[in-house]
Amino acid sequence: MNDSLRIDLSAYQSETLELEGKSVSFRAFRNLQYCRNPLDPIQKMNLFIPEAYFHDQGIGRYTKDNAPYFLPNTVGGYLPGPADEPGVDSHSGRPNTLFEALTHGLIAASAGVRGRTSGKASNEFFEGSKEHFTAEETGRMVGRAPAFIVDYKAAVRFLRHNADILPGRTDRIITNGTSAGGALSALAGATGNSSDYEPYLKQIGAAEERDDIFAASCYCPIHNLENADKAYEWQFYGENSFHRTKHQKSENGIIRVPYEGVMTKEQQAASKPLKDAFPAYLNSLHLTAGGKELTLDAEGKGSFKEWVMGKILASAQKESLTHDNESNRPERMTKGSFIDEQNYISYKDGKPVSFDWRDYIQKITRMKAAPAFDSLDMNSPENEEFGDEQVDARHFTAYSFEHSLNEHPLKADERIVRLMNPTIFIQEDRTDIAPHWRIRHGAFDRDTSLAVPAILALLLEDHGKDVDFFYPWGIPHAGDYDMDDLFAWIESITVE
Ligand code: DHB
Repeated sequence: MNDSLRIDLSAYQSETLELEGKSVSFRAFRNLQYCRNPLDPIQKMNLFIPEAYFHDQGIGRYTKDNAPYFLPNTVGGYLPGPADEPGVDSHSGRPNTLFEALTHGLIAASAGVRGRTSGKASNEFFEGSKEHFTAEETGRMVGRAPAFIVDYKAAVRFLRHNADILPGRTDRIITNGTSAGGALSALAGATGNSSDYEPYLKQIGAAEERDDIFAASCYCPIHNLENADKAYEWQFYGENSFHRTKHQKSENGIIRVPYEGVMTKEQQAASKPLKDAFPAYLNSLHLTAGGKELTLDAEGKGSFKEWVMGKILASAQKESLTHDNESNRPERMTKGSFIDEQNYISYKDGKPVSFDWRDYIQKITRMKAAPAFDSLDMNSPENEEFGDEQVDARHFTAYSFEHSLNEHPLKADERIVRLMNPTIFIQEDRTDIAPHWRIRHGAFDRDTSLAVPAILALLLEDHGKDVDFFYPWGIPHAGDYDMDDLFAWIESITVE
């Protein structure tokens, strides 16, 4: 029987790529249709296999028998994330993760996934997304929630469907993404083999295979959306001005548009009730660290906050000792974030020993008006993500739905909201959750609360997963800035 999801291993291009003094030869298989009934032209995969594995040669500590699969996504801002190529990332100017993966001996695959603007052209740009990409204007808005995770799962299944002919280990797929793409990676890690996505996978004709993954690398995952507004006000209540830069694509590349202001009356009124609602949510999770439950009192103080502060202090201590970010990636840091310039940190014997939380929050500044995600006027990226083919945007929290400034507010179906939240699946623990996780969220990232990645990391640890979590000093909302460490971590979990 002719199976359109079987890869023809004789149809490839032989390529060699040299960047920054490193060279790798590979076979490229492009535009592979990873599902039988695609709804959008973006649903294609590029697959890159080191040439060495066709000649029984190894790369580093990997061979054709043990090489894992690296499956990064290019999603940012819940926009469509097209299939990528090994090469230079036009945004950072540095070799991208696909190139780095190949040079480290991983098999690299990049699947295009649908997003909230699939079907129409858009000039929006977010961290993690591709600068030079324009969606095909099909007029069919088929990329709203939960489309991106459905496509990512279909890509995982497609690789498994070809396990018998592919080199390497398709049972060791590692996902990677930044921001909304970090959320996507977290979803892939949390929802393995869940039957809840089955109708959507059937609709696009995904292969009938397992879709659990081995490890998830998540940079600043913008996830847990229905609780993120509360977490944001827990952190930023009292700061009424916001400071952000919006990115837009133009013929001359990305333009930065400063967007600052003071929160309106309605936005200020939203801050306190949201802040007040956070402790009840946090306490309902029964998170633990070192055998003790992490909680918050009605004011938002308590052991959970101390745990987050301890992690921020550990980050300050590391940077103070090594100046690693300042020396190796100063261009990736927030302006004014060099460790020795921070006046809210107290030192003893040259070592940071404490810091003032309020002053630190004031220093990094509020980026978004309240509510940060479920916007009262229903025009945030997340509101659009919860639209569908017929409806452009929806609310997804009770607060914003009840206080909507939109004339015809709609609220997303809770079943769809759930399919977008990795933390719920981790709490339920009924899926095949990835055993290994790496979570990074910059200590100067204000796109979501510091509590949001902390909750993800703690929940995973409470459920017995191997978690490497850190808030790197001075780093804003960004990803892929520490690839040596990322690939060293991958080696540590994949080479015995
Ligand atoms: C992204 C950033 C945001 O602030 C947000 O709300 C959603 C997505 C991003 O960079 O992907």
